[in-house]
Amino acid sequence: MPGGRWIVLLSMLPVPGFFETKANMSNALELLKTRSSPKAQDLVAPAPSEEQLHEILTIATRVPDHGMMMPWRFIVHPKETRAALVEKLVANFRRGNPNATEAEVDKPRLRFTDSPLIVTVVSKIAPNPKVPEIEQLLSAGAVCMNLLNAAHAMGFGANWLTGWVAFDKSSKELFGLGDNEQIVGFIHLGTPKGDVFQRRRPDLSQLVSKL
Ligand SMILES: Cc1cc2nc3c(=O)[nH]c(=O)nc-3n(C[C@H](O)[C@H](O)[C@H](O)COP(=O)(O)O)c2cc1C
Repeated sequence: MPGGRWIVLLSMLPVPGFFETKANMSNALELLKTRSSPKAQDLVAPAPSEEQLHEILTIATRVPDHGMMMPWRFIVHPKETRAALVEKLVANFRRGNPNATEAEVDKPRLRFTDSPLIVTVVSKIAPNPKVPEIEQLLSAGAVCMNLLNAAHAMGFGANWLTGWVAFDKSSKELFGLGDNEQIVGFIHLGTPKGDVFQRRRPDLSQLVSKL
């Protein structure tokens, strides 16, 4: 029936937006292929605005999350509020590590002070018979990775760091962390100053096997 044939032919045409979607997807792949971390000390202003950060964090939370537990949260540290916090963190660390060298203390201290913007990603583990702790922790890692990619897609540089600031138990209170919470990353954000160093990437032939 001629009418029916037309309907079949029409249904084979691409849906509106099909080509744009393909173009967007190839952009997305290009972004994923080109992301890399600038050194934290090479990040300068501008940092993401409030609006951009809102979008970055929204994308960051779009991760696999078994049982929809949301086992993570964020603490945003704008530059203006950081100096006082850093001095308290350093004092705590020195008290617990009297033999720490100046260099050990100073590198993270400077990074934490100077970055244009830092987002702390906190893993929040809750007992769940169906969702082991490791799955909740991995979901927080995925949040960090999504955050890096979202920042890159917006043209910003981002670097995922930890160091003693993240692991010093005596500073848990300063970050307002509960007993079931730990810092899994400080994501330093800003605009890369100059070209980003491109490190060698893994050789897949060393990593992939078939079974
Ligand atoms: C959980 C985690 C913690 C890290 N902490 C540090 C750190 O404290 N100091 C550091 O120099 N690099 C640290 N790194 C590595 C940096 O993120 C590094 O710049 C990055 O791996 C470079 O790779 P990329 O260019 O693919 O992002 C850490 C990486 C991860 C995954």
